Amino acid sequence: MSPIKLNIVRGDEAKGRNFIEYEIPYSEGISLLDAIFWIREHVDSSLSVRYSCRSANACKECMAMVDGKVQYLCSIRASDGQKVSIEPLKSRQWVKDLTTVME
Ligand code: FES
Repeated sequence: MSPIKLNIVRGDEAKGRNFIEYEIPYSEGISLLDAIFWIREHVDSSLSVRYSCRSANACKECMAMVDGKVQYLCSIRASDGQKVSIEPLKSRQWVKDLTTVME
């Protein structure tokens, strides 16, 4: 198994935005939100992401742009060795990293 590479937007309005690449160990069935939790636990706890229901597709809080398409981070599964770019939703006001304002 090969690690997953996530290219994630970091920053805020004051600092500006940059893509930072993270390598996460791949495991069968890991979601992109799980991979982000792994980064928060092992690399940088300040990585900001919004979520609530985790995999029920009910809250819509984890919506983000994944390789340019709107996706739910909690339900999209990573594949072995995948490289993915993740950005905050363009249709919501940006707060920090992957966090946007919920209407
Ligand atoms: S965390 Fe609720 S839809 Fe993903």
